[in-house]
Amino acid sequence: PGPTGAPDPSAATPADSDLVRAAMGLPVRRTPVWFMRQAGRSLPEYRALRAGTKMLESCQDPDLVTEITLQPVRRHGVDAAILFSDIVLPLVVAGVDIDIKPGVGPVIASPIRSVADVDALPDLQAGQLAFLETAVRRLVAELGATPLIGFAGAPFTLATYLIEGGPSKEHARTKAFMYAEPEAWGRLLDKLAVSAATFLRTQVDAGASAVQLFDSWAGVLSAADYAERVLPSSRAVFDALGDRERGVRDVPRIHFGVATGELLPLIGDAGADVVGVDWRVPLDEAVRRIGPGRSVQGNLDPAVLLADRDTVEREVRRVVEQGRAARGHIFNLGHGVLPETDPDVLTRVVELVHGLTER
Ligand code: CP3
Repeated sequence: PGPTGAPDPSAATPADSDLVRAAMGLPVRRTPVWFMRQAGRSLPEYRALRAGTKMLESCQDPDLVTEITLQPVRRHGVDAAILFSDIVLPLVVAGVDIDIKPGVGPVIASPIRSVADVDALPDLQAGQLAFLETAVRRLVAELGATPLIGFAGAPFTLATYLIEGGPSKEHARTKAFMYAEPEAWGRLLDKLAVSAATFLRTQVDAGASAVQLFDSWAGVLSAADYAERVLPSSRAVFDALGDRERGVRDVPRIHFGVATGELLPLIGDAGADVVGVDWRVPLDEAVRRIGPGRSVQGNLDPAVLLADRDTVEREVRRVVEQGRAARGHIFNLGHGVLPETDPDVLTRVVELVHGLTER
């Protein structure tokens, strides 16, 4: 049995859920909703459970991963769980010295600054992911008909952390390396694509019902650079996931980045069923840019959740209306939940979207 208050009561299995159906452009009972960073600091029960355990340790503890992943599903009645993990985890497991500093983000002890550094980057072995397999299996059993979204960081966004050494605004070192060392750049992205694919494959094989590839910082690139120097590695991640024609177990693919207005068609071309859109481009305009063959996910500005009740309701209605232009719409924020968000507002958004779209 699923957790109490589980959404989508008429779906018998995750494969029949509104999330999976919307992703594939099939009719839904109502528009599915989940939130990027729904598991995290906006929830007091998360802060209580995480107290005293480092972020990257909690991600490798199947009990903590299971409980933290379920918290927002129980509380908000969202239409999907997203695995509690982090995009840098495959690197950490492979042996790269990374710390996640609260309020900052991932910090790398020895950033990649040379071609030799690229070749010294350790590879992830599937055998290192037993904890992940355990956590996903347990979650899928607990979730019942509610789908679990697995995820990985896209090669470009992971490369930005490895090269910059931490979070960055301009990503100037990353771009300088990309232009100066095109061959090593290609090798780096290929390595990161293999590790992302291994990380995703483990989650899908253990029962995840959809995957999201986070290329959060791809929006800093021109369309030409993205198409030539980045897209092939993201496509390789999706290609490694399965072969629909040959019937290998495969699940819907969501592909997301921030400030990707100029890249939207390319983000789709990399192999997505669903293109994640941030708040800068209205969903109906995003659909025009992406074309009719894909669904969209998004795109309420996370900051709107800090505004008054009427503003929240008006903006939710707008996103729902603009999402009707798509073959399928998964309601989400344009980026992650801000830590200062009142969790009751998130619950109300779920109820609003469901109420506005009930068939
Ligand atoms: O969405 C979810 O609820 C699932 C869990 C999830 C986390 N990180 C947990 C997390 C997911 C999907 C991610 C992905 C991730 N991590 C991305 C891509 C998504 C995006 O936001 O664009 C990126 C860029 C990272 C790197 C990262 N890890 C950042 C920027 C931070 C925040 C640092 C901070 O303190 O502001 C982290 C840490 C992190 N990852 C937290 C959580 C819940 C906060 C850790 C804490 O509780 O202190």
